[in-house]
Amino acid sequence: MLRSVALLLVLGSASAFLPTLIEKLWTEDSAEGFSGVARIPFKDLLSGNVYVDPFILQSMKKFGFFYVVDVPEYNATVELDYLKRFFELPEEQKDDLAIKKHNAANPNAYRGFCPGVDDVDSTLQFKDVFNIGPHETRGQRGDASKKSPLENMRYEVQEPNVWPETGNFTFDAGFKTTFQAGFEIRRNIGRAFVKSVARALNMPKLPELFVDDEFSAMGLRRYLQRNEINSNMYSDYDNVLLRELEHVDSTVTVLSTFNNGGLQMLHNNKYQEAPVTGDNAFIVNIGKLVDDIIDNHLTNVRHRVAEVNFTRYSITYFLGPQFDAPIDKSMTGEPTEAGRKYSIFGEWVRDYLGAIELFYY
Ligand SMILES: *[C@@H]1O[C@H](CO)[C@@H](O)[C@H](O)[C@H]1NC(C)=O
Ligand SMILES: *[C@@H]1O[C@H](CO)[C@@H](O)[C@H](O)[C@H]1NC(C)=O
Ligand SMILES: *[C@@H]1O[C@H](CO)[C@@H](O)[C@H](O)[C@H]1NC(C)=O
Repeated sequence: MLRSVALLLVLGSASAFLPTLIEKLWTEDSAEGFSGVARIPFKDLLSGNVYVDPFILQSMKKFGFFYVVDVPEYNATVELDYLKRFFELPEEQKDDLAIKKHNAANPNAYRGFCPGVDDVDSTLQFKDVFNIGPHETRGQRGDASKKSPLENMRYEVQEPNVWPETGNFTFDAGFKTTFQAGFEIRRNIGRAFVKSVARALNMPKLPELFVDDEFSAMGLRRYLQRNEINSNMYSDYDNVLLRELEHVDSTVTVLSTFNNGGLQMLHNNKYQEAPVTGDNAFIVNIGKLVDDIIDNHLTNVRHRVAEVNFTRYSITYFLGPQFDAPIDKSMTGEPTEAGRKYSIFGEWVRDYLGAIELFYY
C-alpha cells in the first residue's frame, strides 16, 4: 500500500486513469504466489507510454517476469492449432524441414524442424522444436575464404526460414502467415520491453544494442510424455520430477504457455506455479547475459517445467542483442561475465549456435 502511494507521487499527474490501472496492475503483495506480477496492456507497452515503466521495473525486480495482456488481433488458440497440426504431420513431411544434423540432404542448419530423441541415458531434454528466425532470404556473402570467421558467421546466422509444403495450401499459407505475424508481435514486445527498461533505469544507450535482431529465434515446442522416467530429471533443489530442467535464460524471453500448466518460477526460495498465458497474453523475462549488461538491476528468474501428464506445448521467443553489440561491459562500464570470453554478441552466439535447437539462450 505504501509503495502504491509513493508511486503515485512519483508519477504525479501522469494520467487521469492511473488509479484504476494501479488496481489492475498492482494487486496485493503476498509471499505466496504471483498475484503481484504486473499485467501490462500490449498497446501501452508498444506505444512507449511511460506509465508502464515503474510497473515493469518493480515486477522485474521482485519476480523476474511480467505479463503482456490484451494483444489486439492475436489469438493464441490459432497458433496452438497450427503448432499441433505441424507436429502431427507425417514424418516424411517434417523430415523435409529437418535441420541437416537430422537430415543430411537439407541445407538448413538452425531454422526448421529438430526432432527430440527420447533417450533416457543421454538426453535430459526431450522435445520437438520448430525454429523460426527473422530472415526469409539471405544477403550476398561474396568470397567466404576472404572473410574473417566472424564475417562468415554473420552471414551464417541469416539463415532463411523453411516452411511446410504439405500440398494443403490452406494449411501451408495459414501456418506461415500466422507464425510470421506471431514472430513480429513477440519481437515488438521484446524491443518495447528493452525501451521501457532503458527509460526506467536511465540507460538511453541500451536500445541501440537491439536495433538489429539477426539472431532472434522463435521455437514452437512439443514436449511428449517420456516412455521412461529419467532419474536425472528430479530436481536437486526439491526433488520434484521435471520436464524441463531448472535454468535461467540468457537474453530476453517472450513466452507462450497457452493453457498448459507446469511452468514454475523461483520466488522466495520456492518454485511456484506461474499463471498460464492463455489465449491472449505473453510472459516476459530477462536472461543473465542481458541482466549483466544492465548492471543486474532486474532478476533473471530461475525457472523450470514440472512433469505433467499431458503433451505440453509452448512457444519461446528470444531477443538477443544485435550481432556486433558489445557485451563485455555493462551500461555503466563494469566488466560482465560474458566479457571474460567475448567482446560482441556474435562471438557468444557462435559458441551456442550448434546447440540452439536444444538449449535456451
Ligand atoms: C480464437 O480462435 C479460435 C480457433 O479458431 C476460436 O474458436 C476462438 O473463438 C477465437 N477467439 C477469439 C477471442 O477470437
Ligand atoms: C487443410 O488445412 C486446413 C487448415 O489447417 C484444414 O482445416 C483442412 O482440414 C486441411 N485439409 C485436408 C484435406 O487435410
Ligand atoms: C493428470 O493429473 C491431474 C492432476 O495431477 C489429474 O487430475 C488427472 O486425472 C490426470 N490425468 C490423467 C489422464 O492421468
